[in-house]
Amino acid sequence: MNRDLAGCSSIIETGVPRIDQQHRRIFELAATFADGGDQIRMMKSLAILCDHVKTHFREEEEMMAACGFPGLAMHRQQHGECRRMLVDLLANAMHLSLDQIADEVKRLINGWIHSHILTADLEYAAYLKALRGGEPGAAAA
Ligand SMILES: [Fe+2]
Ligand SMILES: [Fe+2]
Repeated sequence: MNRDLAGCSSIIETGVPRIDQQHRRIFELAATFADGGDQIRMMKSLAILCDHVKTHFREEEEMMAACGFPGLAMHRQQHGECRRMLVDLLANAMHLSLDQIADEVKRLINGWIHSHILTADLEYAAYLKALRGGEPGAAAA
């Protein structure tokens, strides 16, 4: 069983508790796809994962707007790109095998979102920390 999706969240913490908690949940949900299952269960899990990612993106953007983060427009664009890929996957999933769905989830979450956190989300966390002159979590939890 491949559990690397869940494990990798621990090394990419932003220090903003609300964001880290949502990231962890996304990786946990993504890791369940490695367990296999039937098409119905996979479709339900995919819909739940998409909801979590969309909610996370929306809340992250709200937090960025609230503190005047200058990289918001670019960040929002990146979120939009990922949101479109997830919506496409959800729309096409009925025509994919379970292994293909698991691979796509891994590519999007362990690939795209993981590297987005390491670059764009950490950039926001650094901005927040500099802005508050202390721990980023104190301002945005
Ligand atoms: Fe983000
Ligand atoms: Fe994020």
